[in-house]
Amino acid sequence: MSFRLQPTPVARPNRCQLFGPGSRTALFEKMAASAADVINLDLEDSVAPDDKPTARANIIQAIGDIDWGKKTLSVRINGLDTPWWYRDVVDLLEQAGERLDQIMIPKVGCGADLYAVDALVTAIEAAKGRKKRIGFEVIIESAAGIAHVEEIAAASPRLQAMSLGAADFAASMGMQTTGIGGTQENYYMLHAGARHYSDPWHWAQTAIVAACRTHGVLPVDGPFGDFSDDEGYRAQARRSATLGMVGKWAIHPKQVALANEVFTPSEAAVTEAREILAAMEAAKASGQGATVYKGRLVDIASIKQAEVIVKQSEMIAAG
Ligand code: COA
Ligand code: MG
Repeated sequence: MSFRLQPTPVARPNRCQLFGPGSRTALFEKMAASAADVINLDLEDSVAPDDKPTARANIIQAIGDIDWGKKTLSVRINGLDTPWWYRDVVDLLEQAGERLDQIMIPKVGCGADLYAVDALVTAIEAAKGRKKRIGFEVIIESAAGIAHVEEIAAASPRLQAMSLGAADFAASMGMQTTGIGGTQENYYMLHAGARHYSDPWHWAQTAIVAACRTHGVLPVDGPFGDFSDDEGYRAQARRSATLGMVGKWAIHPKQVALANEVFTPSEAAVTEAREILAAMEAAKASGQGATVYKGRLVDIASIKQAEVIVKQSEMIAAG
């Protein structure tokens, strides 16, 4: 470990982020009643340009009127390259009630993007005497975003979570695919005449996880577009969980249960983690730093690995 300790991210369940367009008010109650940990009401790409003002007003109203329970309530604003984003921030911060937890900033390309939004949010919070400090989530979904991912992760003390946005990312990178996440037909290795599929999102995910873990931010996997493909979603989510991501988006309500299933540590995994911790306690008591558990080595690093699973499980149970 470096002299500088790795910061701990905010302790909140973030297994599933459910999205819904700000223009479809009929969905809001359903979103609030869902099992998603985080709600992202959208002002960006699921809302047509002419509908932006109405969607803003809908969302501001719904933040106050609907019982969102213990969910993290987040609004996705428009990108900083649009004429809409400043009005999104101003109206939300001036008019929405204290129930709002976060704003999500899409298509961030550098740390200064967060600085700009932070300056505006900070001024409005002070002017309006808002009590709750609004958090930020960002989406890494461009070549610039991934190239500057660590700078972005460090850019604002408000930053709590960072997602990979597969569709815009693929477009910005010039990737030859229209798929949103998951297996890509042409991304394979050939061995002995058989195709072995590889994961084109993997490197971007690991870059995000490393940047996030360095700066105490929650790394999250973004959308999986084919909401008819449950197994495809599960496979993608399991890879993300294995890499250190804490959750995944749902762009349709049927994906919420899938995300919760994958990102809630299973009973078997928690039991095994507790057994490893017990084995290491016993080893420590007899003066050893390493021991054998189920025929394999466990040592002091195993304590930290096991604690990740136990802590995640306890935090979800408490949330
Ligand atoms: N949140 C909560 N409930 C939702 C929902 C959502 N995002 N999307 C659909 N539902 C509800 C529907 O109202 C319907 O409810 P009902 O059974 O009471 O009638 C049920 O779930 C089934 O919906 P379905 O008919 O399969 O979907 P749809 O055609 O109405 O909508 C989408 C499909 C993809 C357009 C819609 O889910 C959606 O807008 N998703 C979010 C898109 C978004 O925000 N994108 C930005 C982030 S990438
Ligand atoms: Mg996008």
